[in-house]
Amino acid sequence: MKRIIAVLLAVSILCALAACSAERAQPAADAGTAQDAPDPAPVQSGAESTPEQKTPAEESAPSPAPDEAEQEQDAEPAEPKILVVYFSSANTADADVVSAATPRVDGMGATAYLAQMICDEVGGELAAVTPAADYPADYNGTLSAAKDERDSDARPAFLELDVDPEDYDVIFIGYPMWWYTLPMLFYTFFDTYDLSGKTLVPFNTHGGSRDGGTYAQIAALEPDATVLDGLAVAGEKVGADTRDAVSKWLSGLNG
Ligand SMILES: Cc1cc2nc3c(=O)[nH]c(=O)nc-3n(C[C@H](O)[C@H](O)[C@H](O)COP(=O)(O)O)c2cc1C
Repeated sequence: MKRIIAVLLAVSILCALAACSAERAQPAADAGTAQDAPDPAPVQSGAESTPEQKTPAEESAPSPAPDEAEQEQDAEPAEPKILVVYFSSANTADADVVSAATPRVDGMGATAYLAQMICDEVGGELAAVTPAADYPADYNGTLSAAKDERDSDARPAFLELDVDPEDYDVIFIGYPMWWYTLPMLFYTFFDTYDLSGKTLVPFNTHGGSRDGGTYAQIAALEPDATVLDGLAVAGEKVGADTRDAVSKWLSGLNG
């Protein structure tokens, strides 16, 4: 599993570097064309100097000793901070909604169960997105409320999380398919947090729609994040046997 984490870290670092080099390129791109650029101003004292024209400060600054330089290169990169965040119908107050929506798996919603399993495999922290207002207690009521939310492009509120997703490098994002898309709660989630530069790893449960294009939707909602290949599992199949599929998927993220 260390290998998976190492690869996820490598992805995060590459993204950070790409973002960094994009930022560096920005001023040049904004500086106008060479034709209308003003003549370069003479180098002022304290301004950037060429290698031949070292400032006194630079001349006296000690170069790092060879040992120190080697140590810097050998330093282990910090492990990425991993968060597994999910919504499952089991988060609503009335658990009957869940039993009507999907077969119960050890008393949990299918997505909750899958999220816990993924968290066990990758380490990191687990956080549930809980709607501020419960969905109706009966299954048809939930279907109807969810459809209204989707049709009106609603942004239902959720209770404050115990963690701040912006503090993490790699965020696994789990949800059930609701009306051929993400539950609208996740649209609120993506509106709430700036996940630029993060590595996002979607997973979902469903009743036949698989991911229904939601991984691409997440990439569109978070254009400055890297979205890895997701895992879709039929809700009724989620159980202890799902662990093999989860392990295989995680290994596949290594490319
Ligand atoms: C409101 C609602 C809408 C749903 N819409 C879809 C859908 O569009 N496509 C699909 O495959 N399954 C759909 N399902 C089934 C759920 O995605 C599936 O049962 C899922 O595993 C439930 O996960 P949970 O137990 O974590 O809530 C829907 C279920 C509900 C309650």
